[in-house]
This record gives sequence, C-alpha cells and structure tokens, in this order.
Amino acid sequence: MADERGRIFIDPAAYQDFDRWHAIAAELRAEGLVHRVELPDRDPFWAIVGLPEIMEVEKNSDVFTNAPDPVMNPKGRMTEEREESPVNTLIQMDGDEHKAHRALVNEWFKPGEVKKLADQVGIQATRSVDEMQRLGGSCDFAADIAMNYPLRVILDILGLPEEEFPKMLRLTQELFGDGDPDFQRAGEDDQAMAVIMDVITLFTGLNAERRENPTTDLATVIANGQIDGKPLEDMDTYGYYLIVATAGHDTTSNAVAGGMQALLEHKSEWEKLQADPALVDGAADEIVRWVSPVKHFMRTAQQDYTLASGHTIPKGDWLLLSYQSANRDERVFEDPFRFDVTRPDSDRHLGFGFGRHYCLGAHLARLEIRAIFKELVARVGDIDLAGTTELTASVLVNGPKRMPVTYSFKG
Ligand code: HEM
Repeated sequence: MADERGRIFIDPAAYQDFDRWHAIAAELRAEGLVHRVELPDRDPFWAIVGLPEIMEVEKNSDVFTNAPDPVMNPKGRMTEEREESPVNTLIQMDGDEHKAHRALVNEWFKPGEVKKLADQVGIQATRSVDEMQRLGGSCDFAADIAMNYPLRVILDILGLPEEEFPKMLRLTQELFGDGDPDFQRAGEDDQAMAVIMDVITLFTGLNAERRENPTTDLATVIANGQIDGKPLEDMDTYGYYLIVATAGHDTTSNAVAGGMQALLEHKSEWEKLQADPALVDGAADEIVRWVSPVKHFMRTAQQDYTLASGHTIPKGDWLLLSYQSANRDERVFEDPFRFDVTRPDSDRHLGFGFGRHYCLGAHLARLEIRAIFKELVARVGDIDLAGTTELTASVLVNGPKRMPVTYSFKG
C-alpha cells in the first residue's frame, strides 16, 4: 500500500516538484517495486515503480492491455468518457488491431528512413538556435526555443504549411497539458472533444490532397493507408494524425528543455559536450532517462496474473507504469541520481517504453535531440539559468514550461 504518497502518480501538481517527486518514488522503491494505491477519492490502481517489473507487464501485452483506459485521467478512469470519443489511436489499441495499424507507418519510422530526415531536422535545429541568437543575451528557453522546434519538425514530416503552426501548437498543448491551467481552453467543458474536432478540420484538406497527389511524406502514408486491402476509416485516419502530432510534440520539447535544465544544473556535463560534441549522441539517451518526459502509461489486467514479484493482479485491475521512477531504478543504473552524459548504459532507460507499444518516434526524437544540442554546444559560449524554472502540471507529459536563461554566442 503506497498510502498518501501514491498521490505523486495522480496529482498533476506533484510532477512540478521534480526533487520531491523523486524523493518519494525512491522511498517507495526501497519498500517494494509494486504498490497497490488506494485513495478515498480515486479509482484504485497498482503503481509499478521498478524497471524490470514494468518490462514484465509490457512484455505480457495480451494479459495487460492498453484498452480501455491507457492514461491516468486526473478525474479517474475514463471508460465512459472514452466510449464517446470517435477517434481511436495506437495508444488505445491492442492485439491484432494494434499490429495492423502500427504496421502502416512502422517502416516510415525505422532508423534507415529517419536518417533521411537528418537534413530537414538539421535545418530546423539551426533555425531555432538562430532565433535564440537573435533574441540577444536572454530568453525563455522552454517557451521560445524548445516548444517550437519539434512542432516545426512535425509540420515538416506531415507536409503541413508553416501557417498551421499556431493551430497545431494550441492543439498539442491543450491535449497534453490537461492538468495545467496555463494550457487550458477557457470556457469549454468538453475540451478534449473540441480539440479533436479542430484536428479533424485541420487534417481533412491535407488528407484529401495526399490521396489525390501522393508524395513521400508521412501524411501520404497515413492518407493512403490500407488494412486488409481496405482504406482506413476516416476516424482512424484522424486518430493517426492526432497521435503523431501530439505524441511527437510536447514529449520532445520537454526532453530538449529538461535536457538543457539538467546540463545547466550540472555545468560540468555541458562543458564536456562543448569540449567533445560527439558525446551528444549518447547524451540524448541520458537526457531522456533523466527527464522522462512521458511519466506513465496505464494497463488493464485481462485475467488474474501473478507477477515475478509475487503480487497477484486480479482481472480488471488497473496498473500504472511509472517510467519516471523506473529510470532511477537503483538496481539498473549505477548512482541513478547522477546526471552523466557519458553514462555507458543510459539507453537501458524506459523513457520510450518497451514492447509492442515502444515509442514509434524514438529514432526521430533522438535525431531531434542530437541535432539541436550539437548546434547549441557548437555555437553558444556561456549559458546559465537566470531565474526559476517552472515545470508543467501534468500526470502524462511534463517538463519545463518556463526556463529563463542568459547566454552569449561564440565569436
Ligand atoms: C523524447 C521524446 C519522446 C518520448 C520520451 C516518447 C515516449 C513515448 C512512450 C513512453 C510511449 C509509450 C510506450 C509504451 O507504451 O511502451 C510512446 C509511444 C508513442 N510515441 Fe513517443 N515519445 C517521444 C517522441 C515521439 C515522437 C517524435 C513521435 C512521432 C513523431 C512519437 C510517437 C509515438 C507514438 C505514435 C506512440 C504510440 C505507439 C504505440 O502505441 O504503438 N513519440 N512514446
């Protein structure tokens, strides 16, 4: 039983205090790797806080399914609410349905294909650092730089014009920042539905255009996707656009902003990268381990199942996979609270999940993180945090939303 400490998993504000969150999670890990969390005002769930224990759950994806409630809603289980949602995404799917839908775009996201995007991503990285330079000696690195960069990459890979940037920014922030009043849509009760309707409007034209005139972009793959020889249902098509736009944005923004915060709070690591930019390649995984931009996903047990830890999870119970806790697992990472850009096994982290739902965009995310940090360490001279860094309030994806920095450029 995790008692009141279990609130760290369900309270969006708890994720805003990074050190307190980690101190409590470390205490819980010391007591056990699997905790039943029962709070008077919430649906009960099992919090899985150890890395091998999460892998065990994710490996058994027929027993522990994403449906019906793949994320912790601050209000509780979402079954009824979700049944009204017309859009189905990979995250809500299991089994053969998931396999067939994922196969549509899997090739497009493979390392060899993603490598072909290096020039395009490099252009956006250079552009972001150019903007930072133009802002003079100070900026809000989270809001001015990290927030925009991955969204521009998404627009590029979907083939959407630059004018759609503001609309896409609103969509992705409102959908994932749902616990943070800064990102809430004022005066709309059914926020998620309104956001989904916006996506449908935005992507209708693009979809028709790519069916008519196919190119090599991701939108062409989605628009012309077929399952069992039949075109995708419209709502499945929109679900695909939605998941790529949202899953690819805040996650990577938070990795970039949180990575910068970690480097500036551990200045020797920033200096190591400046001295040897080749270290940025490995640093990308240490950044994802450290920041863990995606905090959790949920699973539901389809049958009684006894985990290797000895805990029997009854059929129908809900499990929370705490990636953020697993990425500090003392049994896996030596001195896990040390941020170390040369850590040899940082890629053992679960920041991208594991198993059949393993992050589709992991290779693209690494490419983006590497591209911008290579540009930053090559061009920025001095850089320091210049005030309080504020993190978003969200139980799903969080990281810095405000991060004032002062800096100078080389030469
Ligand atoms: C640092 C950045 C990112 C992080 C930390 C991250 C993390 C994750 C995690 C933890 C999952 C769930 C894995 C699981 O259930 O085992 C996931 C799934 C997913 N991610 Fe990412 N992600 C990132 C970037 C991206 C990007 C750039 C894209 C696409 C452009 C993307 C697309 C997806 C999709 C489509 C899924 C669902 C896959 C499925 O259910 O089969 N992600 N991601």
